[in-house]
Amino acid sequence: MTIDYSEKIPNNVDLASNRTLQRALEQWQPEFLHWWDDMGPEGTSGTDVYLRTAVSVEPKGWAHFDYVKMPDYRWGIFLTPAEAGRKINFGAHKGEPAWQEVPGEYRSNLRRLIVTQGDTEPASVEQQRHLGLTCPSLYDLRNLFQVNVEEGRHLWAMVYLLQAYFGRDGREEAEALLQRRSGDADNPRILGAFNERTPDWLSFFMFTFFTDRDGKYQLCSLAESGFDPLARTCRFMLTEEAHHMFVGESGIGRIVQRTCEAMVQHRTDDPGEIRALGLIDLPTIQRYLNFHFSVTMDLFGADVSSNAATFYSTGLKGRFEETKIDDDHLLAGAMYPVLEIRDGRLVTAEAPALNALNEKLRDDYIRDAAAGVERWNRVIEKQGVTLRLKVPHKAFNRKIGPLAAAPIDPDGNVVSPAAWAASVDRWLPSAADRAFVASLMGRVAEPGKFANWIAPPARGINNQPVDFAYVRFN
Ligand SMILES: [Fe+2]
Ligand SMILES: [Fe+2]
Repeated sequence: MTIDYSEKIPNNVDLASNRTLQRALEQWQPEFLHWWDDMGPEGTSGTDVYLRTAVSVEPKGWAHFDYVKMPDYRWGIFLTPAEAGRKINFGAHKGEPAWQEVPGEYRSNLRRLIVTQGDTEPASVEQQRHLGLTCPSLYDLRNLFQVNVEEGRHLWAMVYLLQAYFGRDGREEAEALLQRRSGDADNPRILGAFNERTPDWLSFFMFTFFTDRDGKYQLCSLAESGFDPLARTCRFMLTEEAHHMFVGESGIGRIVQRTCEAMVQHRTDDPGEIRALGLIDLPTIQRYLNFHFSVTMDLFGADVSSNAATFYSTGLKGRFEETKIDDDHLLAGAMYPVLEIRDGRLVTAEAPALNALNEKLRDDYIRDAAAGVERWNRVIEKQGVTLRLKVPHKAFNRKIGPLAAAPIDPDGNVVSPAAWAASVDRWLPSAADRAFVASLMGRVAEPGKFANWIAPPARGINNQPVDFAYVRFN
């Protein structure tokens, strides 16, 4: 079987002229499609979905909309155009020309960064594969599938780097990316949050709001990399990530709006009464928020990390908006505040800024996420409801790093194990919460119809009406 790459894999990396890479991708593509059949959205191979496909990196050309069956989606390889004379902007190699090939001494660290990022992409598709069966509307179903195919494309983006620049090891890693499985006891995905289940649409919207936003911050840091192909790949991925976060933010916004409208109409803030109306009460939304926020906190890694220092010093992974920061870009002698548990209390300690880069990225992320939560609060405020949503303290419910050593409540107080056990059902979704949310998940698959628990969006996708047939079942 021969594959016409200019046809089947849209790309701007001149694939047709690179025989070795072409052969590697030729072998990997059927394995990817096999994985998609196995682990991609359940029961959808014949379904036509109104999808956006990247066909070029031009600002106007890349977003091409049409109906497509997902297995026929063109998973392309796109890098933002090279910046002439680009330099390395931080670390020991600051001021040197950006690398176009992998520097031998950094090979294994770079590969590790690419594999870790790459592993999250198929993981989220696996986590979300059953959600189509309980979609609240065709509009939402289409958005889910858009996110899924783009996470597939992000996997292609990382596999391209592995196969183009890492030889045999890269090919082996590309295969392993299709073999690990989210939540599998024997061969799990690399990072914890990507082994959690995404069992319902409230979880899905929280995941795309919080966890895809972690993706944004990781990609922004890698987009600063001295390894130019990685930087350019991540820049293009960020254009897609923005839509994923939009899906989460608008999804929760619409749930909140629907709930608040009913609270006003029925003059109640009693969760039981809200639930009796078939709606999700705000305290339950807060508990889901707490869960997804805290799980995502752990994704940034240990607060003090020598790996983070090495990745930075060697020019592999920068800070968020590195070139906009006004300092020496070496962090010589600089300090950064980190949290510790001391004598049963959270205290702030100073760590070398180089070692605290995970913590700094986490703090950058928190500001962004908290601003999004405030936009939900404006929806609540507009309805005249007084309750507010809030991101928990960053030390809440941590599972890795020194803050995992003791239970910490959403306000940042260290509490006893007994106090934690007594209150955890007020802070995190309980089995009963999850069962209730699950009970609301039906399937609404008629154009223009929406599940009772979520408001319709203000507008459709690509200027189409809200009642457009975004998905057609054959
Ligand atoms: Fe992604
Ligand atoms: Fe994403």
